[in-house]
Amino acid sequence: MENKGPFNAKITSVGHYVPDRIIDNKFFENFLDTNDEWIKTRTGISERRRLDKELPTSYMAVRAIQDMLSNRGIGIEEIDLIIVATVTPDMMYPSTACIIQKELGAKNAWGFDILAACSGFIFSLTTAIQFIQNGTHKKVIVVGADKMSAIANMEDRNTCILFGDAAGAVLLEPTEDRDSGILDTIMRIDGEGGKYLYQLGGGSLNPSTHETVDKRMHFVYQDGKSVFKDAVKGMADISYEIMEKNNITADQISYLVPHQANMRIITACAERMGISMDKVMVNIHKYGNTTSATIPTCISEYWKNGKVKKGDYLILSSFGAGYTWGSILLKWAY
Ligand code: UT7
Repeated sequence: MENKGPFNAKITSVGHYVPDRIIDNKFFENFLDTNDEWIKTRTGISERRRLDKELPTSYMAVRAIQDMLSNRGIGIEEIDLIIVATVTPDMMYPSTACIIQKELGAKNAWGFDILAACSGFIFSLTTAIQFIQNGTHKKVIVVGADKMSAIANMEDRNTCILFGDAAGAVLLEPTEDRDSGILDTIMRIDGEGGKYLYQLGGGSLNPSTHETVDKRMHFVYQDGKSVFKDAVKGMADISYEIMEKNNITADQISYLVPHQANMRIITACAERMGISMDKVMVNIHKYGNTTSATIPTCISEYWKNGKVKKGDYLILSSFGAGYTWGSILLKWAY
């Protein structure tokens, strides 16, 4: 997307939060016909984190933001806008952004939620940079947070083994350097994919009733095979497209930061781009698919380990329910 504003948006801090409780693959063997070997080889997941039952998504988001603010050394009153990517809001409304704003005491901020499933963080980042690029906002938070354990059907071995709980946050600020920060974005949706990955119950189409509960309509449904096929192509193509469009070669890229849904999708995407796996950010083995949180938790962990440096080119890419998919090219600026 072309930037016609006076500034580029750059990420100036990152942070994340994962719950302490670890759920390993063996846990599922107790009540499902599955095993550690199948889960590891088919998905790349060894374990995932689970938030306490009584705690909501905002609990993790607040902690990820606090981590991010302390890494930048600024106070919450400086924040102008909070954008929350989630498919597991605390409740239908008010928005989780309002709940987070109150919890943090962000008295000078407004905010809203964005629902784009596994592409939620990428779509939210693309939305957030508009406010920075046009000069109206100086400090914008994007937080991706999901408590997937709240909507995982523990009787469905096809899906429940995939998901985990986590949150990751970034801070965006303006820069006059047009050659750094977020350089390009490509976003797509295709509602034809809606039939393969959804949560039917609780909306205006199927308001919550005893029947929607009995029919397990408040859980994730996924036709894994169809989504897998489309995700491999969709994510690989859009990641390659942003490289080509910006004349960036695989050699110049420091990191691919892919949505963490399946290790085989991640590998296929890296192969298509001609990028070796040591330049791919991965944490799926530890956290599973945390939906909106996969990309910011990856960036935060790698940054904390000193692996992300000023001037590094990163490509972020995702594919998820909707379908929604997209890629972002950025040059790390701090
Ligand atoms: O994040 C948003 C986007 N989501 C994705 O990108 C996820 C895309 N899909 C996937 O990652 C994969 O399709 C899954 C990991 C969900 C499934 O892997 P798969 O290799 O596509 O397996 P499959 O669905 O083709 O199933 C193969 C077999 C089936 O058995 P039959 O019908 O061949 O007898 C499944 O019932 O594996 C069976 N199976 C399992 N077996 C043991 C499915 N889940 C399990 C399990 N343990 N947990």
